Amino acid sequence: MEFKTGISALTETDMIIRGVKLSELISQSTFSNSIFLILTGRMPKETESAIFNALLVSCIDHGMGVASSMTSRFVASTGTPLNGSVAAGILALGEKHGGAGEQAMLMFEEILKCVSNTSDQYAVVESYVRQTLKKNRTLYGFGHAVYKDADPRVTQILTLCDEQHYQPKSLGIAMDVASALESLKSKKICLNVDGLMAALLLDMGFTPVQARGVFIIARTPGLVAQSIEEQQEGKLRRIEEKEITFVKQI
Ligand SMILES: CC(C)(COP(=O)(O)OP(=O)(O)OC[C@H]1O[C@@H](n2cnc3c(N)ncnc32)[C@H](O)[C@@H]1OP(=O)(O)O)[C@@H](O)C(=O)NCCC(=O)NCCS
Repeated sequence: MEFKTGISALTETDMIIRGVKLSELISQSTFSNSIFLILTGRMPKETESAIFNALLVSCIDHGMGVASSMTSRFVASTGTPLNGSVAAGILALGEKHGGAGEQAMLMFEEILKCVSNTSDQYAVVESYVRQTLKKNRTLYGFGHAVYKDADPRVTQILTLCDEQHYQPKSLGIAMDVASALESLKSKKICLNVDGLMAALLLDMGFTPVQARGVFIIARTPGLVAQSIEEQQEGKLRRIEEKEITFVKQI
């Protein structure tokens, strides 16, 4: 069997991660910078480091009511070991929850290609959004079940981007998609944290599937905490019969 890897290698006294000694990372790097390195193959610049860390923190947990936390908690309540319940929560991350970033990045990539030769970026974005809505398709990275006006995580990270003078083209496109959605649907459908993450990670050189990976990494501590709290509860969860409506089969 032969395997090739560009990720890491063991030496007699150390280990090399993407060309950097693990001993150096231990003494000089943060966990989030090391995540950036292992995924992209380079250390982040100062601004990227601040924003990447903020993105990870912003996705660490989003309450026990969301699908991934609930799945982890239901599974943990049966007495499954921690790895099982955490893995179950990760499996619950789909395109509408946690995985929207991958789809959003694919869309931003497509729009970036379309706007490369135009002076009227908004017109191109608006036409893209119009066509997508016409086909009854979802614009991933936009809209939220709870946050209707603005996703507070997005608001805060946008402030950080301002402070860091970090305004990549992909972010401008994300903002234009939100404006076009609002004007075409006559209601606010805000840029959510998955969409923001997709726009920023795209500029930093991440790929769409890596964007999904970053969300998994960010949410895992939350799922571990949710699972352990549920284990400590020690109660087998089930949905009460009175909460279930049985409908006649035809
Ligand atoms: C998150 C989501 C499920 C919330 O749905 P919701 O609570 O029903 O949304 P709202 O009540 O605010 O808006 C409903 C209307 O806007 C439309 N809408 C909402 N988000 C939309 C989106 N991302 N793309 C296209 N249309 C959207 C709906 O189709 C609906 O239109 P209608 O009134 O003509 O039927 C939805 O916005 C969505 O699917 N977003 C994309 C997935 C995503 O990014 N998920 C990550 C969330 S952090």
